[in-house]
Amino acid sequence: MGLEGRDLLTLGDLSPDEVALVLERAKIQKRMWAQSSNRPRPLADRAVAIIMLKPSMRTRISFEVAVRHLGGAPIMLIGEGSVFSRGESVKDTVKVLERYCDCIVLRTYDQSHLDEVAQHASVPVINALTDDYHPCQVLADLLTIDEHFGRLAGLKLAYVGDGNNMANTLLIGAALTGMNAVVACPPGFEPLKAAVTRAQEIASATGAVLSVVRDPREAVDGADVVVTDTFTSMGQEGEHDKRLAQFRGYQVDTGLMLFAKPEAIFMHCLPAHRGEEVTDQVIDSAQSVVYDEAGNRMRAQKALLSLIMG
Ligand code: CP
Ligand code: NVA
Repeated sequence: MGLEGRDLLTLGDLSPDEVALVLERAKIQKRMWAQSSNRPRPLADRAVAIIMLKPSMRTRISFEVAVRHLGGAPIMLIGEGSVFSRGESVKDTVKVLERYCDCIVLRTYDQSHLDEVAQHASVPVINALTDDYHPCQVLADLLTIDEHFGRLAGLKLAYVGDGNNMANTLLIGAALTGMNAVVACPPGFEPLKAAVTRAQEIASATGAVLSVVRDPREAVDGADVVVTDTFTSMGQEGEHDKRLAQFRGYQVDTGLMLFAKPEAIFMHCLPAHRGEEVTDQVIDSAQSVVYDEAGNRMRAQKALLSLIMG
């Protein structure tokens, strides 16, 4: 088992042992970083291309700081005109990029664009969010849950809202770590079939129990972790008003949180749309761990980069 030179295109690329390795490395690095005398720089003299073709705050900054902490040079390529522009083919772009950079971190729209980049790249490629998956976020989420409860296997995670890139990846993440996961979504907004199939495949080996239901209360009942995400993901802005109506009844509010265990935590990858998928009362409550979750983006990515490029 080793992650050296590997891509991370979807979380399902990793085995349960490899996810455990990333989380363990993140915890060790966090402790080592606290002792300022012991800060290894495994990325010294290496460069990481960080390409963001969609907006980003957390992912962009956490990757940039992670690469710097590890002694490497982050090359920030932000926005449409930065790369994959002027009609240049994916192949030509990647073949040039890999001559300057030792790893490519990419946020894009279609998963197939990311896959095509990986197909041409001789350096590792990391998914920084696509329409379908957000593996780096879910590694940080797993780290946050593990730090909070001291374990993952056997916990119940409830995701309420859109069956989007976060729901797809959380199902896979839960399966990989033996967490039971329930997604509650309105008809027509179910998680991706391929993600559910991959998650079920993994779950049959780890013992996780996964399901997709309609009723948010059924999902949240007895949950240890309650998660939601925006009803309108990047690229869907034109559908915002229609989607607000379609997701009526799927807001995480104080009443819904009462169905979870009293010690349950609330998570959201952010940015949150307060008053839409979650109320101020919930996101600002003592149960909310959203800022620690965001902080763990950098820790999980430092661990991932060290293992892939170490
Ligand atoms: N959670 C997350 O990926 O945030 P950004 O879109 O700001 O990177
Ligand atoms: N589902 C959201 C996640 C943002 C981090 C989106 O894709 O816009």
